[in-house]
Amino acid sequence: MQLRAMPHGPLAGTAAVPGDKSISHRALMLAALAHGTSEIRGLLEGEDVLATAGALRRLGVGVDRAADGVWRVEGHGAEALAEPAEPLDLGNAGTGCRLLMGILAGLPFTTFLTGDASLRARPMARVAEPLQAMGASVLTRSGGRLPLAITGRRPLRAIDWRSRAASAQVKSAILLAGLAADGVTSVTEPAASRDHTERMLAGMGADLRIDHLPDGSYRAAIVGGPALRATSFTVPGDPSSAAFPMVAAAVMPGSAIRVPGVGVNPLRTGLVVTLREMGARLAFVDERDAGGERVADLVIEGGELQGVEVPAARAPTMIDEYPILAVAAACARGRTVMHGLAELRVKESDRLATMAEGLATCGVHTAVEGDTLIVDGGGRPAGGVRIDAHLDHRIAMSFLVLGGVARAPVTVDGAETIATSFPGFADLMRRLGADIVETGA
Ligand code: S3P
Repeated sequence: MQLRAMPHGPLAGTAAVPGDKSISHRALMLAALAHGTSEIRGLLEGEDVLATAGALRRLGVGVDRAADGVWRVEGHGAEALAEPAEPLDLGNAGTGCRLLMGILAGLPFTTFLTGDASLRARPMARVAEPLQAMGASVLTRSGGRLPLAITGRRPLRAIDWRSRAASAQVKSAILLAGLAADGVTSVTEPAASRDHTERMLAGMGADLRIDHLPDGSYRAAIVGGPALRATSFTVPGDPSSAAFPMVAAAVMPGSAIRVPGVGVNPLRTGLVVTLREMGARLAFVDERDAGGERVADLVIEGGELQGVEVPAARAPTMIDEYPILAVAAACARGRTVMHGLAELRVKESDRLATMAEGLATCGVHTAVEGDTLIVDGGGRPAGGVRIDAHLDHRIAMSFLVLGGVARAPVTVDGAETIATSFPGFADLMRRLGADIVETGA
């Protein structure tokens, strides 16, 4: 699908974004491992999460959506999962694939996993290696790529793993495997990544211990064995989806929008911190606890932003937000320097390259120096170009936001990828005053 974003005026109004993708994947998977019926409200019904639901069904789990939009998962414990007759296709979903590998490592049968061209290009060794150390057998294509076959065993060996990257997917896969291990499994990451898995597991009766170590690293340890209790989840709005209307409003003087019910877990709010440093007016209103996560309404007013230096240490708390931050940087005055972006190279696309090249075609001066992205902002970018989404939803949405604030329209090819995480994105933006039209199949 081809979408074109025309330049628009200030944005206004209230618009709720869909449920958090990370939490939605986890809610389905943890409910499948629990004993009893779990209910999930506000589940993201995007393609990534539907792929996870489909994979769980093929493993024999009852996963259903009622007419009222509530999802019900019939869990009978991990032991009840059964060998699927066919390969499981996780589509574009890295989280779905890697977390499922953690579960499959503790199941005594063989499962074949694959995904779309984007997922088949992404590294799986970072998850396969710890699972192999725990006793699972994982056979991947060269370079640790999908398709792969995983044969699990129960119990697994408990391990103490040091993760090279601050990756919640790696951490979560190890913790899920740890549920099936014969002792205490721990994972240490160089900095804390999103902790939804830990929060949800603890809420369902798992025995976890969390340590923030003096050198800034983070350690999560889990005791193998306990049965998880079925529970009711309410999924907050996804801060990584809210990021798009948020930046669109923040860079356009005169805008005033409200995004209700968004997750504001501090391990997800690096973009808010950065936008505030850039001079954005952004408030959390009615901040509250909802099912183990902090939630707030985000209120954003548009204005002039200034370029800033974004430290590498902040990357884990805004890892998915760099594409849209780069758009904010392009509209700001002065230079923005974003450090520590190595992980962006292994996302749904090589986001360091796709953003630098895409912004350059839009008339914005950019440079990549090692793992650092430099963007020289200058008010409204020229636009007037056609961009390929590279099977990457966040690249597609970032350039549609840019088109709205540019001097000439931006056309995005392959925009159907937006449905992986943010069904209704174009409608939501239109309701706020954006002008996004479908221009081709
Ligand atoms: C996610 C973790 C991050 C993030 C991804 C979702 C998760 O990936 O980029 O969109 O739900 O655990 P990494 O773990 O690879 O950093």
